[in-house]
Amino acid sequence: MQGTHVPVLLDRVLALLAPAVLDGPAVVVDATVGLGGHAEALLAAHPSLTLVGLDRDPSALALSAERLRPYAERLHLLHAVYDELPSVLDGLGLPGVDGVLFDLGVSSMQLDSAARGFAATSSSVGASPRASSRSSGPAPGSRTGSPTGVVSRDRAASSRLTSRSSSDW
Ligand SMILES: C[S@@+](CC[C@H](N)C(=O)[O-])C[C@H]1O[C@@H](n2cnc3c(N)ncnc32)[C@H](O)[C@@H]1O
Repeated sequence: MQGTHVPVLLDRVLALLAPAVLDGPAVVVDATVGLGGHAEALLAAHPSLTLVGLDRDPSALALSAERLRPYAERLHLLHAVYDELPSVLDGLGLPGVDGVLFDLGVSSMQLDSAARGFAATSSSVGASPRASSRSSGPAPGSRTGSPTGVVSRDRAASSRLTSRSSSDW
């Protein structure tokens, strides 16, 4: 089930961020909150942690909002690209943060949905920047040019995407 997807390297991420958040109230930004797996684990592990979660994909945000509902009082979920982080923090009145996580890439939900443009798990072949570009700014990993041109130029990258899609992202 998408909402309970467990991200790879979860334990490593928790261990790396622990020193920054162990001493009382802290603020961590998950700059690519996706389906909320890292965010959920961080909020569960640190009861006085406030988490700011950003994602460019409104569909991912809707799923993570549902998943993170139990932590709503300590959570700010925003539709934004991470370039906007300084203005997001200004808007929230947060002068600084204790940690920032960037889990770069696409989520399993974006790969699973052929309708969104990635077709690595369907009968068609290739990847399109449309998969997570339902907001402002370029899609992750995209370059200028048509999706067809990107796939054509990046045949090797497309093959890697296909081979990794069967693993647990
Ligand atoms: C690998 S997933 C993150 C998974 C997440 N850590 C979790 O635990 O479920 C990467 C996410 O980054 C988002 N993303 C890609 N480029 C972004 C950007 N420039 N700003 C914000 N989010 C972005 C994608 O929409 C996707 O949801």
